[in-house]
Amino acid sequence: MNMDLNKNNREQWKSRSGFILAAIGSAVGLGNIWGFSYNLGQSGGAAFLLIYIICIILIGYPIMMAEFTIGRYSQSDAVGSFQKIAPGKPWVIGGFMGVFAAFFIMSFYPVIAGWVTRYFGVYLTGGFETSAENDFIGFISGTTGPLIWHFIFVALTTAIVFFGVQKGIEKSNKVLMPLLALFLLVLAIYSLTLGGATEGLRFMFSPTWDSLTNPSVYLAALGQAFFSLSLGMGALITYASYLKKENKLPGAAASIVGFDTLLAIVSGIMIFPAVFSFNIDPAGGTGLVFMTLPNVFIEMGRVGVIFGFLFFLLLGVAALSSAISLLEVPVSYIMRRLNWSRRLTVIVVGLAIYIIGVPVALSIGPLSHITIFNLGLMDLAEYVSFNLLLPLGGLIISLFVGWGWNKSAVLRESDFGQSVVGTIWIWLLRVVSPFIIVLIFLSSIGIIGS
Ligand code: PFF
Repeated sequence: MNMDLNKNNREQWKSRSGFILAAIGSAVGLGNIWGFSYNLGQSGGAAFLLIYIICIILIGYPIMMAEFTIGRYSQSDAVGSFQKIAPGKPWVIGGFMGVFAAFFIMSFYPVIAGWVTRYFGVYLTGGFETSAENDFIGFISGTTGPLIWHFIFVALTTAIVFFGVQKGIEKSNKVLMPLLALFLLVLAIYSLTLGGATEGLRFMFSPTWDSLTNPSVYLAALGQAFFSLSLGMGALITYASYLKKENKLPGAAASIVGFDTLLAIVSGIMIFPAVFSFNIDPAGGTGLVFMTLPNVFIEMGRVGVIFGFLFFLLLGVAALSSAISLLEVPVSYIMRRLNWSRRLTVIVVGLAIYIIGVPVALSIGPLSHITIFNLGLMDLAEYVSFNLLLPLGGLIISLFVGWGWNKSAVLRESDFGQSVVGTIWIWLLRVVSPFIIVLIFLSSIGIIGS
């Protein structure tokens, strides 16, 4: 990683901006474009957006600050952090769940990122001629194609963590993330010139109140908030553990949350006007990115090929910097626990992740007959990660910092100090976030409400 060693021989970010960029790299990924449009489309549009933003403010930012505070204070991995702050206490379950969640998410994330990588390849060699739909469905339901691209993406992620080229990733993020934002903006403006702009914007920004009575919309928004901000599984604890004490946290967290949310909204403005212009079902899920956008690019003519190329390149890079942070969670834990070198750990974990992903990569094609609770393997992995593991992990982190750790130490270590904002933050962690998370859980499984 692009890090110096501290006096305990542990790696450290060179600068605060290096850390912020790496955390933005982790947060901005497939979740902002694929996940956000997928969830917004399936959960009724504006109602989802409204609840999403409330979740970000009341739960996302406070839990991000909680993870940063734990990580920077303990200077250890997801599991070690809990053990250091509260030795012998059951809070460490939160850390183990994080390592487990990282494997779980890595079973499907690189599969979808592999599709992105393939699209990048397609645009590199001229793009789609008529329509991307048949090609996409044929490709994802195949065997060799999904496995090869999945492999390429896992290999890329592993290689970067292996060689410790955080320098490369950190530096490239500095250029590529603003570029991605700019690029999405250009595409969003283009999308607004298409016939479906009004309808697309109405879908995104004018809530229909009856969707607000549907508990699954709340769960989707909560899960998306955790996933998009990389919360609830110790990725940001791990990243913050490489941070020097003198770097301030509250502003860093605010800029990460702000940038991530902005990017998701702009990507919605890019996708939904196009969805309505082409008469596509907004609840089309994964197809929105892989079929709707290519249609837009075809509509743009020759320049569309360049747009397609740049779009999938940037999305691929965004996915890569997120996958790196996902891989880093088990790697940093196993390295310390088994006293292995970084390189050995990365190879073993990378291999394990590839193997776990194989059935998921094949779950749309040859293994599509395997369903659990009526969901195919990929849908199941997504559902469990978004809606169960991350919110549950977040709940533990929130309660831990709120109740399990000495209050004045928490306030001091978070850089909030004895301020009003600090007090509000503590109460958000103690009561508000846990209450909302539990409420959403209970109502989505039908224990309360209709
Ligand atoms: N935040 C990433 C995205 O939006 O694509 C995904 C992610 C990365 C989730 C790291 C969780 C995590 F720990």
